[in-house]
Amino acid sequence: MSPIDEVIKNKKTNVNPIWIMRQAGRYLPEFREIRKANPDFIKLCLNEKLSTEITLQPLIRFNLDAAIIFSDILMLPYGLSQKVEFKKGIGPVLGDLNLENISKLTERDFVEKLNPVYKLINSVKNSTITKNKSTIGFVGAPWTLLVYMINQESPKLGLKKNFFENKSLIDKTLLIIEKFLKIHIKHQIENGAQIIQIFDSWAGLLNEKDLQNYIYKPTLNLVEYIKSFNIPVICFPRNIKNYKNYCNIVNPSVICIDYNTDPKEISKDIEIPVQGGMDPKVLLTDKENLKKEANKYLDIFNDHPYIFNLGHGVLPETDPQMMDYLVKMVKDY
Ligand code: CP3
Repeated sequence: MSPIDEVIKNKKTNVNPIWIMRQAGRYLPEFREIRKANPDFIKLCLNEKLSTEITLQPLIRFNLDAAIIFSDILMLPYGLSQKVEFKKGIGPVLGDLNLENISKLTERDFVEKLNPVYKLINSVKNSTITKNKSTIGFVGAPWTLLVYMINQESPKLGLKKNFFENKSLIDKTLLIIEKFLKIHIKHQIENGAQIIQIFDSWAGLLNEKDLQNYIYKPTLNLVEYIKSFNIPVICFPRNIKNYKNYCNIVNPSVICIDYNTDPKEISKDIEIPVQGGMDPKVLLTDKENLKKEANKYLDIFNDHPYIFNLGHGVLPETDPQMMDYLVKMVKDY
């Protein structure tokens, strides 16, 4: 059993597992080298040999307890034949959404397009490097995918004014997303994913009154689906105002918290295992401060089943030596 399983399944508090969101990425020179030679990000994700290598890169350097597959939440719209591009300085840019075409798409078409992702999971799971470690698959939450598919770019400056205007488009798209997310999850699990994380990066954009329709209901549906395979599910509803309500309603196996959330309140209010929290910017400071901040989380969750992680992805400007220091100090805690 991996240390992460011990925390999730046995609620152990005397192990300190650690993995890091975006642990395979631009802060690693060996990743940047592959990336430079492969300017098309989606193609790189669909190159099972290279994406396996990238997934394993951080595990070769650091004693992490999980491999998170090198892929992207936007592989779902890609699998649905919506154009997805990554533009320097802007981020993801999506093509027009053609519901008529998407409605004709079958499970077989979709799985055929994303098959390299499933093969990647298989080879990561079967690598000797992931022995006694967890292989984590992931998806975007229905709401966050809806945001990208309708907004067609990151809503960093807010959603487009007319976002909610075409209610029928929104409702139909959400149903399609839910249907294909289940297919995507099922194939990840069948190919060796032992945990699924649901990233709801834009959960914080919604008002209380819209949470039921766009977040609670569709996410609960997925959580129950994942649990039906006897696989744990970690939910990360970034910047949601009320984590306690979210946990009561959605009931994930683990809740991942962002860096604006007070960990003390979480440890008081929430009984299920907790993951994450520390601000990725702490890794840009010095070792003394890093130790102090990491210890803060480890102390607060000392008697709580806890998986160390950050409150968002590791930043590209992070020094890999700081990551090394962090992993060692969490393990030695
Ligand atoms: O955590 C991991 O190591 C696994 C890989 C992973 C990626 N994306 C690889 C990636 C994961 C878990 C994701 C999830 C993801 N993708 C989310 C949810 C988490 C979050 O960040 O809120 C979101 C919103 C996306 C969509 C996306 N993909 C964005 C906003 C970007 C950044 C675009 C940019 O210009 O930097 C990506 C690209 C992306 N996905 C990169 C990586 C390593 C950077 C690609 C590169 O330029 O090298």
